[in-house]
Amino acid sequence: MNDLMIQCRGVSKSYRKGSTVVTPLEALDLDVPKGEFLALMGPSGSGKTTLLNLLSGIDSPSQGSLVIAGEEISTLGRRQLTAWRAAHVGYIFQLYHLVPVLTAFENVELPLLLSGLSKKERRERVATALDLVGLTDRASHAPTELSGGQEQRVAIARAIVADPSLLVADEPTGDLDRESATNILSLLRNLAEEHGKTIVMVTHDAKAAAAADRTLHLEKGQLLENACAPS
Ligand SMILES: Nc1ncnc2c1ncn2[C@@H]1O[C@H](COP(=O)(O)OP(=O)(O)OP(=O)(O)O)[C@@H](O)[C@H]1O
Ligand SMILES: [Mg+2]
Repeated sequence: MNDLMIQCRGVSKSYRKGSTVVTPLEALDLDVPKGEFLALMGPSGSGKTTLLNLLSGIDSPSQGSLVIAGEEISTLGRRQLTAWRAAHVGYIFQLYHLVPVLTAFENVELPLLLSGLSKKERRERVATALDLVGLTDRASHAPTELSGGQEQRVAIARAIVADPSLLVADEPTGDLDRESATNILSLLRNLAEEHGKTIVMVTHDAKAAAAADRTLHLEKGQLLENACAPS
């Protein structure tokens, strides 16, 4: 069995705006073994979010092959991609993106509502996810009643509740104080080490990247192992 979670080959992404074409990613290759916690750094506009969107099936490449969780996703149609994403990927955002009128519990339950699980099964899964992020006692709180770090932990519980094998995180600690950030990073480490999740995390913070197994730098459409200057 293949032990790679991600295998990108010759992946390019271009956006056309009027007569100009922007190509943030150009003939990019990337291998990520299962269970790796990978940090992705690079200057603003270098294509980090674009790459996460390709890896998570939110967007499709202009060219190239993306084999992720055993599936060639670059050729999937929109519907197939949506189903693939629901089964395999959890997305964590910088600003949490919780639904303000729902409780922590209900926010975490959201991805399960279309899954066909019974109410009891959903409740059990949500309880497990909230327990894993240490927020069992905040289940009935609204996002406004939580700290930023707690909101991000709810968002992580939501990302893992359907038990995806791949987690992508776009600057998950970008809006947090150092202590909350450290807490989120050790949670992500734990998800990779103890729960076998593969994690791709974009960050501007070298300290955050240090929590990962490996750091790659995105510059001029290419991934580099060692960059000369931090972004
Ligand atoms: N939907 C889109 N349409 C047109 N251009 C886009 C689109 N999304 C991204 N781009 C362009 O692609 C380039 C890379 O953008 P991207 O958001 O991936 O950068 P980033 O590395 O995540 O930057 P930041 O660190 O600021 O978040 C930028 O030049 C951006 O303007
Ligand atoms: Mg970005």
